[in-house]
Amino acid sequence: MKILVTGGAGYIGSHVAKKLAESGHDVVIIDNLVKGHREAVLQGKFIEGDLADKGLLDRIMREEEIEGVIHLAAYSLVGESMEKPGMYYENNVANGLNLLEAMVKNRVRYIVFSSTAAVYGEPLEIPITETHPAVPANTYGESKLFFEKILERYDQIHDIRYISLRYFNAAGADSSGKIGEAHDPETHLIPIVLEKALGRRENLYIYGDDYPTADGTCIRDYIHVEDLADAHILAVKALKDGLDSRIYNLGNGEGYSVKEVINTAGEVVGKEIKAEIGERRPGDPAVLVASSEKIKKELGWEPLYPDLKQIIESAWRWHKGGGFRGND
Ligand code: UFG
Repeated sequence: MKILVTGGAGYIGSHVAKKLAESGHDVVIIDNLVKGHREAVLQGKFIEGDLADKGLLDRIMREEEIEGVIHLAAYSLVGESMEKPGMYYENNVANGLNLLEAMVKNRVRYIVFSSTAAVYGEPLEIPITETHPAVPANTYGESKLFFEKILERYDQIHDIRYISLRYFNAAGADSSGKIGEAHDPETHLIPIVLEKALGRRENLYIYGDDYPTADGTCIRDYIHVEDLADAHILAVKALKDGLDSRIYNLGNGEGYSVKEVINTAGEVVGKEIKAEIGERRPGDPAVLVASSEKIKKELGWEPLYPDLKQIIESAWRWHKGGGFRGND
């Protein structure tokens, strides 16, 4: 299939684009490079552009004869979304609408949407299934939930089929060593821990150790970015094969605390990584663990790297190599 990947120069998008190309799809990437990296585009045709540009989207759909879309372009920082909500609604909702309108106009019928565990808010039960109430606790999660609702309408009215993938904590890096996680500023736990181990960061804070968990630190479900990418390939194929619209969680179903992550990273790098206890970060739920049974059963998805140590090892290879700077 010929597939447009929005945000294909970003962390998850670049891994998705690579897997798509490796599975024989034709890939066209659009990315404005605000968060993404040109060096992260390894395959496919790259177009530098913004989803605010309706004319560009229309032209790409028409001239490239796009058959399906994987939509990852978005802002994704929870903290920032609570300071600048307008930015999040504009990019994650309004610009997404431009994409859908260009799809309708050019009769592109399939879209895989990059959603998030943040749509659930504070969980009522663990593991979280797709039927758990969606009550986001921040603008980021809400912007993603709004877009899921919009997709539902576009399915009903315009016959667009979608699969929303609600990611839990994406982590790790591609085995090629050419792409990996590189955010600026970095806010995610695993890269921060590894930067600390490399001496590129002075302090590592554990955001609260008084949560109602075994060691008092927050528990998350870390999923290898390659496993996440595989799910997109399965999803786009399923839509093309006639599956109707639906939502899937994507996680490992296994939770690890912040302290466990730091200790496991210490084993991977071969030395103790020192952390200090800091304040709780506002809006962090104590425990987020997915049930991914639905996508396993319906699409046959199975994570190849469910083990936290393997995930951190792949991230370590990437960070030790210097990230994109190491590929110069
Ligand atoms: N943490 C620390 N110290 C740090 C960074 C993080 O203790 O320096 C803790 C956080 O408090 C949290 C855990 O490590 O308990 C994981 O934090 P991340 O920032 O790596 O990931 P989040 O769970 O906050 O965020 C992820 C996705 C978001 C998504 C969110 C849903 O990255 O896109 O889950 O709640 F919105």
